Amino acid sequence: MYYSQEVIDEVLRGSDIVDIVSSYVHLQKRGANYQGLCPFHNEKTPSFNVSPSRQIFKCFGCGVGGNALTFLMKYDNLSFQEALQQLADRAGVKLPEEDRSEQSKKRQEEREQLLAVNKEAATYYYRLLRSPRGKKGMEYLTGRNLSPQTMQKFGLGYADGRNNDLVRMLKEKGFSDEVILKAGVAAFDEKRGMHDKFWNRVIFPIQDTGSRVIGFGGRVMGDGKPKYLNSPETPVFDKSRNLYGLNMARRTKKPYFILCEGYMDVIAMHQAGFTEAVASLGTAFTQQQALLIRRYVKNVLLAYDSDGAGVQAALRNIKIIRGTGLNGRVIDLRPYKDPDEFIKALGSEEFEKRIEHAENGFFYEIRQLEAGYRMDDPAQRTDFSHEIARRLCEFTDEIERNNYLREMARKYFIEEESLKRAVASYGRAGAGTPEGLTAPPSRLERPARERGDRKEKKTPAAASDLRSQRLLLTWLVDDPGLFSQIREYFSPEDFEEGIYRQAASALWQRLEAGKDPEGSMTAASLIGIFETPEDQEEAASLFSERIEGDPNPVKTLTEIMTSVKRGTVSRLQKVNEKDDAVIRQMFEEKKKQQKLSGVTVHLSKPSGQ
Ligand code: GTP
Ligand code: MN
Repeated sequence: MYYSQEVIDEVLRGSDIVDIVSSYVHLQKRGANYQGLCPFHNEKTPSFNVSPSRQIFKCFGCGVGGNALTFLMKYDNLSFQEALQQLADRAGVKLPEEDRSEQSKKRQEEREQLLAVNKEAATYYYRLLRSPRGKKGMEYLTGRNLSPQTMQKFGLGYADGRNNDLVRMLKEKGFSDEVILKAGVAAFDEKRGMHDKFWNRVIFPIQDTGSRVIGFGGRVMGDGKPKYLNSPETPVFDKSRNLYGLNMARRTKKPYFILCEGYMDVIAMHQAGFTEAVASLGTAFTQQQALLIRRYVKNVLLAYDSDGAGVQAALRNIKIIRGTGLNGRVIDLRPYKDPDEFIKALGSEEFEKRIEHAENGFFYEIRQLEAGYRMDDPAQRTDFSHEIARRLCEFTDEIERNNYLREMARKYFIEEESLKRAVASYGRAGAGTPEGLTAPPSRLERPARERGDRKEKKTPAAASDLRSQRLLLTWLVDDPGLFSQIREYFSPEDFEEGIYRQAASALWQRLEAGKDPEGSMTAASLIGIFETPEDQEEAASLFSERIEGDPNPVKTLTEIMTSVKRGTVSRLQKVNEKDDAVIRQMFEEKKKQQKLSGVTVHLSKPSGQ
C-alpha cells in the first residue's frame, strides 16, 4: 500500500512523538527535550532523547533515531503500513483505500496473489505431512529428533509422490496458471505441462519477518540429489534479503544472533532453546542479510560447519559481518560437524559453553591464516606478520585498530612498534576521510541499486561520502532556510543513486515549492515516497544524521558541503567514456566545489538539538 505525502503528513500532524514514546518509555524533561533509558539497547544512564520541536528521537548511546513512525516500527517490529495504521487510529485519521498509482497497485496485487498461493501451498504441505499419506515424511523428521511442537512451529510439511495435487487444488481455488508458476510451486515442461515442483520431499516453508510464507525449501528424505530444492526468487522471495528463522529470532532478548548454515541447524537450535538462530537461504550470506541482522542485534555468532567448506564460508562471512559494523565471533563445534549434530550429542548446556567461548572473528581469521605458514621459518614468519599488518588496516577506528594491534603483537610475538609502522605504511593507501566526519559504517552504505543509467559506471560512494550526504539532507530538513543559500551549488544529482537521490529529489521539490517552511513535518512525510518497509526505514535514517554538540556548525556545514561535492566530482572522474557533456559537467562541479569552501552560510538554528 502506498500512501501520499498528504496522508502521512496528516497522520503525523495528529501525533505527538513525546506522547507516543512516553507510552513505552519513561521520559523526563531536560531543557527543550525529553530523556529516558533507550529501549533499543541496554543502558543504565539515559541517552535516549526525544525532541518535540523536530518530532524525532535519537539515542546518543546506540545511535538509533527517527520519527514517530520509525519508533513504532522499531519498537513493535511493525512494518511502515502497520505503524502508520496504528498512528492513524490513535490520531483519529482515516487512511484512504484508493491512494496509489496504477503501477504500484498492480505490483501490490501481484505480491498479494503470490503470497496467497504460498499460503495455500504451505497449508497443503502441512496437512499432508500430518495425514496418512505423510507417513514417510513424518518418520524422516521424527528420525531427526524433531518434536511435533517444533515441526508445528516451523510449519514443516510434506510433498508426496509425483502427482499434481497441489496445482490442481490451486487451480480449483481460482489461481491462474501464470500466478502459480510465478510463485515457484509449479514448473512447466512440454511433456508434463504444468506440474508440482516439489515431490517426495519434506518441506520447509520460508517466512519473512511478518511470518508470511515467501518460499519453500524441500529436502530429500535420505541421500538423494539434490539434497535441497528451493523455490526460485520471486517478487516476494528475495533470497539475499531474508533469513530463515528471523521471524522468531527477532524476538530474542539476547544481544546476538547465531548464524547457521542450514535449515536443519536452525530448527535443531530453536528446539534446544536457542531461538536466536538464523540461516541464509541456500545461497551465500550477503551484506543485505548482515544489515538486516543489524536492525535487531549488534553481535553475530557463527555456528558454521567445522569442515573445510564451513571454515571458508565463515572466513568470508566474518568480513561481511565486520563490514557492516556488526561484531562477529565464531563458535567452535569440533569434534562435531554442525550445530544439529553437536546438540544431539552434547545437549544445550555444552552448546551454551561454546557460545561463551566463541572466538573473536579477527582472531579466528588470523588463526586460520597462521595454519598456512611455517612459523619456525623466519621468512614465512615475516610474511605472516606483514599479512597481519595488512589486515589490521581494515579497522578504520583507531582505538579499535590499536587494541587489535597490541593483541596481535602479544599473541604472535611481533615487536609492537614495528607492527605499528607496518600498519601505518599499508594504511596510507586507503586513507582520505575528512577529519571529524568519520563514523562507523551505517546500514545505509550499501551500493545503490542498479538502474538503467547511461554511461555512469556504478561506483558506490565511500562511507564518509554517504554520511556527508545524510548530514546535508538532515540539515536541510531542519533548517529549510539554508536551501536558498545553497541551491545554486547542489542538485539531487549530488546524491547517491537510489534512496538517497530519490529522497533528495523529493526534498528539492518541496523546498522549491516553498512548502512547509517550518520543516517540522518534512522528514516524516518524505518517508512516504518509499514503498517497502526497508526503504522507508532507511529513508528515515537519512534525516536523522547529526553531529552532536558541534561548537562550530557553520564550519562543519561547509566541510559537509565540500565533501558532498568532492564525491560528485570524483564520481564524474570515474565515468568511463567521458563525452563533452560529462567533461563540462565535471569542470562545473569542480568550480562549485572551489566556490563552496568560501561560502559562509547563515544558520537559523544551531545544529545538534
Ligand atoms: P541436513 O544435511 O539435513 O542436516 O541439512 P542442513 O540444512 O544442515 O544442510 P547442509 O548443512 O548440508 O547445507 C546447508 C544449507 O545449504 C541448506 O540448509 C540449504 O539451504 C543449502 N543446501 C544444501 N544442499 C543444497 C542443494 O543441494 N541445493 C540447494 N539449492 N541448496 C542446498
Ligand atoms: Mn546439517
